[in-house]
Amino acid sequence: EKITISVIKADIGGWPGHSRVHPQLVETAEEVLSKAVEEGTIIDFYVATCGDDLQLIMTHKKGVDSPEVHGLAWKAFEEATKVAKELGLYGAGQDLLKDAFSGNVRGMGPGVAEMEITLRKSEPVVTFHMDKTEPGAFNLPIFRMFADPFNTAGLVIDPKMHMGFRFEVWDILEHKRVILNSPEELYDLLALIGAKSRYVIKRVYPKPGHPIPENEPVAVVSTEKLYEVAGEYVGKDDPVAIVRAQSGLPALGEVLEPFAFPHLVSGWMRGSHNGPIMPVPMHQANPTRFDGPPRVVALGWQISPEGKLVGPVDLFDDPAFDYTRQKALEITEYMRRHGPFEPHRLPLEEMEYTTLPGVLKRLTDRFEPIE
Ligand code: F6R
Ligand code: MG
Ligand code: MG
Repeated sequence: EKITISVIKADIGGWPGHSRVHPQLVETAEEVLSKAVEEGTIIDFYVATCGDDLQLIMTHKKGVDSPEVHGLAWKAFEEATKVAKELGLYGAGQDLLKDAFSGNVRGMGPGVAEMEITLRKSEPVVTFHMDKTEPGAFNLPIFRMFADPFNTAGLVIDPKMHMGFRFEVWDILEHKRVILNSPEELYDLLALIGAKSRYVIKRVYPKPGHPIPENEPVAVVSTEKLYEVAGEYVGKDDPVAIVRAQSGLPALGEVLEPFAFPHLVSGWMRGSHNGPIMPVPMHQANPTRFDGPPRVVALGWQISPEGKLVGPVDLFDDPAFDYTRQKALEITEYMRRHGPFEPHRLPLEEMEYTTLPGVLKRLTDRFEPIE
């Protein structure tokens, strides 16, 4: 029998500004989800936070895109929004873009990563939660986990992984997707996903012959808001991802290893700056400096045979990542010194806020041809 893991998240109010989630919002979401466990809608849940984003991690048997489970998440966000409004939190309800729920939270503001899987004898899973960035921020780490032998030793030395994996890549501008095989099409894959604001890794699948059925994802990333609004800008998504580990998949440490490099991502301050992504434990995922720098939290789980979430283990709560955090701070300082200059500030097309049209309009008459 299959179990579905759903991570559904939304920013429904920050405390203060866009910094963190107020504990009362977490409690409210927990109440709604506890009731759903009693009623049998879901098997288990955990409410996490990353920056100003409230994260619902749920297990159930209803499959992906279940109206019942999505409706439940929507209800939890709505109830928590009421509390956010009472407390006067900043941007209360901001990610609930629609007034009424219509069967699926995709395209309604929240971010979703879901996978329906046949549980292995033991099922280790990591959920990743990012704040102040966009789905493309997962391209580099997911690529390294499943395709880079310098990251994942298993690709070279584990016979079950040696054949590689398949990557489902979305073109979020043109609403198209393509499946690419690694390692055969490694360079094609990189040609696309290096352009991380346009091409995003949506899922990773095993290849035929792998112990995991080939139609079951081994990694999935939330991309929904960007996808639905393709072309029109409504802010950064602060994405989430689910990754399975071990036994023919990257080991836990190979899943975490890419985050030892604080790569540059976009979405810092006003969704309009590049900065390093800093791996932190949940209690340190409260962006402050220049509303950042961007954060990533990794929660480790074992899924019990009944589908219970055994965890979380706060995986970046480890001095082994101190060096990365220090490096991220150096890069933070270095990038900040650029002030309003690219490449700290994003190129015009990608900025969440821009005064340029207004500035240009005011200066229209003063522009003159260059001889
Ligand atoms: C929010 C974010 C923040 C805000 C900034 C300005 O995701 O990244 O940096 O963009 O705090 O927010 P407003 O315009 O709401 O005052
Ligand atoms: Mg916010
Ligand atoms: Mg956020």
